[in-house]
Amino acid sequence: MRGFSDRAMAIQPTGVRRMFDMAGDDVISFGLGEPDFQPPQAAIDAMTKAMQDGHNKYTTTAGLPALRKKIAESWSSYQAGMDENNVCMTMSGTNALLNCFMTLVNDGDNVLLPEPYFPLYGPDVTICSGEARFYECLFEHEFIPQIEELESLVDENTKAILYNFPSNPTGATLNLQQRDALLGFARKHDLWLITDEVYDQMVYDGEHVSFMGCDYDNILLVNSFSKTFAMTGWRIGYIMSNNLEAMKQIIKLQYYITACSNDAMQYAVLTAFTEAADYPAQMTKEFKARRDLICQRLNAMPGVSCHIPNGAFYVFPKVEVLGTSSEDLSIELLKGGVLCSPGTAFGKSGEGHLRFAYTISREDISRGMDKVESVLIRLQEAASTVI
Ligand SMILES: Cc1ncc(COP(=O)(O)O)c(C=O)c1O
Repeated sequence: MRGFSDRAMAIQPTGVRRMFDMAGDDVISFGLGEPDFQPPQAAIDAMTKAMQDGHNKYTTTAGLPALRKKIAESWSSYQAGMDENNVCMTMSGTNALLNCFMTLVNDGDNVLLPEPYFPLYGPDVTICSGEARFYECLFEHEFIPQIEELESLVDENTKAILYNFPSNPTGATLNLQQRDALLGFARKHDLWLITDEVYDQMVYDGEHVSFMGCDYDNILLVNSFSKTFAMTGWRIGYIMSNNLEAMKQIIKLQYYITACSNDAMQYAVLTAFTEAADYPAQMTKEFKARRDLICQRLNAMPGVSCHIPNGAFYVFPKVEVLGTSSEDLSIELLKGGVLCSPGTAFGKSGEGHLRFAYTISREDISRGMDKVESVLIRLQEAASTVI
């Protein structure tokens, strides 16, 4: 048999999936990051109707103009003057990310990526023959990157930097001053700035701080309706940029990736915008109550400290049990009936952390936290008798 490509051999399955595959059906799952809501009924109805109306065909590569225009308008308070030409529909945020890297990265280029990270970033850069260079977003810095570290990583082969706020897995968000410092870094080194804002609608206190609207030409925004309208299984997202030359390249590449997005689904998302505009806010209200509950429970446990995340639906506490790695800890928790992800599934700087996705009911969060607490107390007691 002839071998496989270097790019296939260079990438590994992600740690989040590995834990998920090990779990039985009876565990309380804080594992995967998908809302436990269904898409708005209006969108489901619109999808059915669109199919019955014959919208079952290829669309233009960039997608339905009315939807793209609606998306551009939805960002007008950040960046005025954009229209359908600034938006390319994709078949998910995952697709949008790969397209951005394919559009920008050459063999020998490097890309600065956050760590802990959404696990697709590094392999995506590898698939594009680039080098993934990770900058740390640490607990001690409220999970915000430090400019000095970025300065130590950048060189003449750095093509782009990716920022992800609100962050998966930390839930961190930026304030305006931090945003401007990160923008200033990209501008100083003339880098493409890819901003993954798929959690822009899930911000708890204050407004979402975006890179859109910043006075810089080299910004590509990645977004998705997976979280916004709880449509993870639908696979629809987009890339948006004020830079029309970049949009031209992105749309050209998108043709070779998927030809276009799903015809009927684009009508459904358009309907969600008009008839279920408050849906993300309703979900966010519930997520906020869950966030408060899970943080309060975790912070009361021995050896656990967690920041109160301001966005997304993850909490990334520091969990210290002497002599136990985060991977071992998550296996112990799984045995105790709770699925979560070891911090190291998001890079080595995630050691000492666990990620809990609070995408289950408050009742299940409480039951799950009871189990976490009893496992941690048992492990802490065992660790102290060893000493
Ligand atoms: C930070 C981040 N970016 C992008 C994505 C991709 O989302 P999707 O492919 O479902 O649109 C996710 C999904 O979890 C994510 O957490």
